Amino acid sequence: MSYLKQVDPEIYNAIMGEVNRESDKLELIASENFVSEAVLEAAGGVMTNKYAEGYPGKRYYGGCEFVDKAENLARERAKQLFGCEHVNVQPHSGSQANMAVYFTVLNPGDKVMGLDLSHGGHLTHGHPINFSGKLYQFHSYQVEKDTEVINYDKLISQAREIQPKLIVAGASAYPRFLDFKKFREACDTCGAYLMVDIAHIAGLVATGLHPSPIPYADFVTTTTHKTLRGPRGGMVMCKEKYAADLDRTVMPGIQGGPLMHIIAAKAVALKEALLPEFKEYQKRIVANAAALANELKSKGYHIVSGGTDTHLMLVSFVESGLTGKKVEKALDVAGITVNKNTVPFDPQKPFVTSGIRIGTPAITTRGMGVPEMKTIADLIDRVIKNLDDEGVHIEVANEVKTLCGRFPLYGERKAM
Ligand SMILES: Cc1ncc(COP(=O)(O)O)c(C=O)c1O
Repeated sequence: MSYLKQVDPEIYNAIMGEVNRESDKLELIASENFVSEAVLEAAGGVMTNKYAEGYPGKRYYGGCEFVDKAENLARERAKQLFGCEHVNVQPHSGSQANMAVYFTVLNPGDKVMGLDLSHGGHLTHGHPINFSGKLYQFHSYQVEKDTEVINYDKLISQAREIQPKLIVAGASAYPRFLDFKKFREACDTCGAYLMVDIAHIAGLVATGLHPSPIPYADFVTTTTHKTLRGPRGGMVMCKEKYAADLDRTVMPGIQGGPLMHIIAAKAVALKEALLPEFKEYQKRIVANAAALANELKSKGYHIVSGGTDTHLMLVSFVESGLTGKKVEKALDVAGITVNKNTVPFDPQKPFVTSGIRIGTPAITTRGMGVPEMKTIADLIDRVIKNLDDEGVHIEVANEVKTLCGRFPLYGERKAM
C-alpha cells in the first residue's frame, strides 16, 4: 500500500476511504462479505501478470507451472467441498458462470424457466434487459401471493405446459430453502436440464446448512464472493459427462485468459471453507439472520415469507407505503448499508421498490452475534420511524461507529 501512496495518492485515498467505510459501518448487504488477509494477499499477488489460456497441463502459453498448481488446488478443493464430479474455476463472475452453462446446453430461442426477478431471481435468470432474456425465451415462475414462497406443484405443472429445455433454480433474494428434488421432478416432466445457481447460498451448501443441489442438478453455478467468502468471481460445477463441453464453452467460448491471481485467491478461500471453523461461521450467519428477522418482526415489520432459513431476509413496506429507495438512503446516512429490493408483487418500479434486503454474512465475519442483532434491529427501527429526521440518522451513525469499533476489521490496513 505504501507504494500506492507514492505512485497514485488518489487511488490510495479512495482505497483507504473504502477500508474505513467497511470498518466503521454496518455492512448488511446480503451478497457481500469481508475476505481474509490471506485471500487479499493472493488476489493482490503476481499471478495477475500471467497469461494462462487453456487448462492446467494444456495451456496455450509457456511458464504456467505455478499457475497450474494454483488452479489444480482450486479445482481439487472445490470438488472436495461440494462433492461435485467436475468444476471449472475460471468464470470471472457469477454472470459468466451462468452464461457458460446457457452456452453449453442452449441454442438462441430455446425455452428456459427461471424465477421472476421481482420475486427473488437474478438478472441472468431471464430479465429482458439481460443477455439471458435477449437470447432465450424465458418463462418466469413466481412465488405465491399468500405464502410468498414457491409452490412446487405449480412449478411442475408450469414445466409440463411450457416444456423448457432448461430450468434455472436459485435466487438473489429468496429467504427460504429451495427444494432441489422438486426442481428435478419439474425437469423430469419435460426432459429439461437443471441448473442451480447457488451464488448466494454457496457457503451454506458447502457446510450442509442448506440442502445440496449436487445430487439433482446437471449444472451448479456460483459466485465465490458471497457467503463463500472468497474473491469476486464465479465457478461452475457439473457432472463429468458435461465437463469437456463446459470447459470449451468457458475458454475459448466466452472468455480468454483466466484471472490467475483470482483463481489463486479462490483456492485460498476454498481451503478456508474446508476448515471446521467455517461451518461454525455459517451456523452463526444463519442464527444471526433468524434473530434479526425475529426482532424486526416483533417490531411489526413484514418479513417476506414470515422469516428466513438462510443468511438473508426481505423487509416489505407495501402495507406502510414506504419505499425501499427512501429507507436505503436514510439507513445509509445512519451508517447502515442495505439495498433496496423489490418484494413479491411490488407495486413500485425496480429503482424505487417497496422493500429492503438484509443479510448477515459480513457482520458475522467481523464477530457480531445474536445480542448485536437486537441492537441492530433497534437502530434500523429508529431510522425508519424517523425517516425524515436527519438528526436521528446522524445520532444512529455515531452509535453504529461505536458498535463497529467493538468488532475491529482490517486493523492493519487502516494503519497503512
Ligand atoms: C443468484 C445470483 N446469480 C448470479 C449473480 C451474478 O454474479 P456477478 O455479480 O458476479 O456477475 C448474482 C449476483 O448478485 C446472484 O445473486
